[in-house]
Amino acid sequence: MTPDELETLIAGRRSSMLIDAAREIDPAVLDRIVNAAQWAPNHRRTWPLRVAVISGDSRKTLGDSIADAMTAQGDEAMKVTKTRGKFMRAPVVIVIAAGIGQSDNETEENKYAVAAGIQNMLLMAESFRLAALWGSPAKGANDAITNLCSMDATDHVMGIIYLGWPTQSVAAPDRPNIAVTRLA
Ligand SMILES: Cc1cc2nc3c(=O)[nH]c(=O)nc-3n(C[C@H](O)[C@H](O)[C@H](O)COP(=O)(O)O)c2cc1C
Repeated sequence: MTPDELETLIAGRRSSMLIDAAREIDPAVLDRIVNAAQWAPNHRRTWPLRVAVISGDSRKTLGDSIADAMTAQGDEAMKVTKTRGKFMRAPVVIVIAAGIGQSDNETEENKYAVAAGIQNMLLMAESFRLAALWGSPAKGANDAITNLCSMDATDHVMGIIYLGWPTQSVAAPDRPNIAVTRLA
């Protein structure tokens, strides 16, 4: 891959929910996308990445688990109802969490490593021309998600990635120029 090709891949990646929910993704492709995350930099090699790949009826179970947690904490009924079905909008959703460290600093750096891993996954997905969107987990639903995904209660859910074949393309949002300090 040339630098030009890499730049095109990076700039071409978009967050998109314009996904064909009925079209499956080859499991071998999914494996390659997930494995890309483990190649992210990771201070002290703590290997904090936790992953659950969710498809089929389990997408509904995920929505219900989060919705129940939202109900228990008094979230608005309309938001709760929407949450129940929201993961059915893609054939696969991937829950990604970061393991706790041996200090607050290590826990924080674990999250950086996992965030870098998520970007690796998004770029790998883009290389297959898949659509993807990094969604934030609902506030207060960490326990419900880690429990369903057989993760540790101390794991921190970093995102829920929707993944599938695109039905349309999306425009790139403008980005501000980077204010770079250059010291020589
Ligand atoms: C930590 C994180 C959480 C995000 N959560 C959401 C979300 O909950 N819903 C959503 O529509 N997009 C979410 N996004 C995607 C951003 O909205 C998106 O990256 C931004 O609009 C820029 O668009 P682009 O990714 O196509 O360049 C999230 C992105 C990050 C990094």
